[in-house]
Amino acid sequence: MSTLRRRAAHLKSKLEDLAQDATAPLALGLPVQHWPRWLGDLHQVKVPANVSPNPSPAPVGSANIRILFRLLTDSLHAPGDVAECGVFRGKTLIPTGLLLAQNAPEKSLFGFDSFEGFDDAVNKDIALGGEPDPGKKVGGFGETSYPALEARRQRLHLDRVHLVKGFFRDTLPQVADRKFCFVHLDCDLYDSYAECLAFFYPRLSPGAAVLFDEYNDPRWPGCNQAVDEFLADKPEALVEIEVDNQQKWYFRKV
Ligand SMILES: C[S@@+](CC[C@H](N)C(=O)[O-])C[C@H]1O[C@@H](n2cnc3c(N)ncnc32)[C@H](O)[C@@H]1O
Repeated sequence: MSTLRRRAAHLKSKLEDLAQDATAPLALGLPVQHWPRWLGDLHQVKVPANVSPNPSPAPVGSANIRILFRLLTDSLHAPGDVAECGVFRGKTLIPTGLLLAQNAPEKSLFGFDSFEGFDDAVNKDIALGGEPDPGKKVGGFGETSYPALEARRQRLHLDRVHLVKGFFRDTLPQVADRKFCFVHLDCDLYDSYAECLAFFYPRLSPGAAVLFDEYNDPRWPGCNQAVDEFLADKPEALVEIEVDNQQKWYFRKV
């Protein structure tokens, strides 16, 4: 990159920082569900106003914010905290944190991710087949930055959002003594879904919801396999939810 371009990029990022700081009080005082598109774009926060609906019903698509907000809101009566497994660049974590800060400030949100992408567990999913995805490789989804997301978290004053860096098998025990009212699983891989389900299920309060991002996603068949195996001997059944032509599946703990 030429020096001029580098300087222009630096100036742009400084101006964005200034604009974000200047509008933060407005943003934090306005329910995140009702942020206008420009405010979401300025803070790089996915909000209902900047979601593009799928052209026809499909279990894939950009972050399912309306579904996430609806299920999360309907779960806040249940005791316990909130977790997201699979954070990447925070496209769903940050809006979840904002909704919680505005509606249930006593609840914490834990965002679990290696922040270095997949380890060799992905090889099992490559062997399972499914449609191709550029992230389906060791190191896939590694193009993120823990410090950058941590800076965004602080800029938005999301004091009850905790980024937990590392592989789930090593990090989940940090919240072993907590209960949960809502868990968003967006972690693509068979092993990751299986580990998260085994960990969170006994820690869900009655009425808590678990939302699966990749169920029926033709790129990640390991999700269906892990979820179906896990729920086979449980009383809970999967429920489909469709908004903006995005189809997702979840269950509620009985
Ligand atoms: C599809 S991305 C998450 C997308 C994110 N929710 C968003 O809104 O953009 C999947 C993430 O899961 C993480 N992941 C999958 N299995 C993991 C594991 N066992 N431990 C830690 N992170 C894992 C990857 O590092 C990756 O960042």
